[in-house]
Amino acid sequence: MKRAIYPGSFDPVTFGHEDMIRRSAEIVDELYVAVLNNSSKNPLFSVSERVSMLSELTADIPNVVVTSFDGLLIDYMKEIDAQIIVRGLRAVTDFEYELQIAEINRVESPTVETIFLTASPNLSYLSSSIVREFASYGGDISKLVPARFIDAIYAKYGITKKEQKIEQ
Ligand code: PNS
Repeated sequence: MKRAIYPGSFDPVTFGHEDMIRRSAEIVDELYVAVLNNSSKNPLFSVSERVSMLSELTADIPNVVVTSFDGLLIDYMKEIDAQIIVRGLRAVTDFEYELQIAEINRVESPTVETIFLTASPNLSYLSSSIVREFASYGGDISKLVPARFIDAIYAKYGITKKEQKIEQ
């Protein structure tokens, strides 16, 4: 049984995350999509909001489990008995940071493997921080996040439907 974890902040979840989840769920037996509960960050969405958005988005994928965790990823992986970390690579700029995390996780927990999926080319520019930046100015985020989450994202910035600059 290959149980993998796709950890992240998902603040908010994007089409890029959805693409990673759907593709990695095809490769492994069970995929935990795990939201990091990072108390030092000031997130847009609470952990429970992010877990419910991800659960809604992945409801049709039978081998996906959505959870959250605190502390070290490798400790949580022991708890759920996962052996594989899935991470996405968008551009070469992601590589150095991702390599460092993958190596430290392997040094600390030698049985853990990190696998990288390259982002689909049409999504390689996309990040949660870009979504937050665009949304905060009422910019069009309809090509960045699933339609069902658009209003909730704008609402965090006090932007109503009338003020949204969405192409009709
Ligand atoms: O979506 P993100 O913010 O790029 O995800 C980063 C994440 C959650 C994968 C990483 O910060 C993480 O694993 N944090 C948990 C703490 C940990 O285990 N750190 C070890 C690497 S220094």
